[in-house]
Amino acid sequence: MPTVFITGARTGLGQEFASQYGAAGWKVIAPTRSDMDVTDNKSIQAYVASLDGAPVDLLINNAGVRSTEPAACKLGAFTLDAWLPSLAINAVGPALVTQSLVENLKKGEQKKVVTLSSRLGSIAGGGGSNSGGSGSSYYAYRVSKSAVNQVNRCLSIDLGPFGFTCVVMNPGWVKTKMGGAGASMSPQDSVEALRGLIAQLDPSRNGQFLEVDGTVLPW
Ligand SMILES: NC(=O)c1ccc[n+]([C@@H]2O[C@H](COP(=O)([O-])OP(=O)(O)OC[C@H]3O[C@@H](n4cnc5c(N)ncnc54)[C@H](OP(=O)(O)O)[C@@H]3O)[C@@H](O)[C@H]2O)c1
Repeated sequence: MPTVFITGARTGLGQEFASQYGAAGWKVIAPTRSDMDVTDNKSIQAYVASLDGAPVDLLINNAGVRSTEPAACKLGAFTLDAWLPSLAINAVGPALVTQSLVENLKKGEQKKVVTLSSRLGSIAGGGGSNSGGSGSSYYAYRVSKSAVNQVNRCLSIDLGPFGFTCVVMNPGWVKTKMGGAGASMSPQDSVEALRGLIAQLDPSRNGQFLEVDGTVLPW
């Protein structure tokens, strides 16, 4: 059976991906933040070394944060320190993790890298409003997801020649710690839909930004 590697798997969508792929018979490697912090290169390299070169078919860069601190959300209150964790976890983390897993992924049959982005990272699709729930503008979160879209573009160019398919996906608005109880989708339904899309991915989709319903999102 194929192998999936999922970051940030303690809660939310990461936990649900692990549970559904496990139930479908996949080998699941699902580190939590305490096993592997996606902003800590040493911790990533040590965790990947423990796999001893085992093939990985699918990497899901799931770990993420959405700061609600005014200093990361509200014009007039910004500080650099409040922004940096969002940028590090949401944008740099997927680059670090993918980099460390490239050799394992090259040995896998599927060669798929899926990074969870967000509709809030779409500059063209965000409309004229800055809103993002609770009156917050989520500047740092939006910027981090726009940035990870660019990370995906760069990965797709570097890894495409090796047969990789690298995409960013919006999971919908999902009832997790991040999405909140008022969200429109359950983690079960979101992950079931995303798994269906992932199963259909092939290199013709390399570099795309996909909505949970399979439509292509504007950058
Ligand atoms: N829920 C939504 O509506 C929604 C919408 C659009 C996009 N997304 C994206 O979907 C992904 C999953 O979100 P979610 O809703 O499942 O959120 P969640 O319930 O808050 O889960 C996020 C997970 O990421 C982990 N994490 C945070 N920082 C980490 C780090 N430095 N290293 C490793 N793991 C780390 C967390 O670990 P701890 O629990 O240990 O902190 C947690 O398990 C995120 O990338 C998010 O931006 C979600």
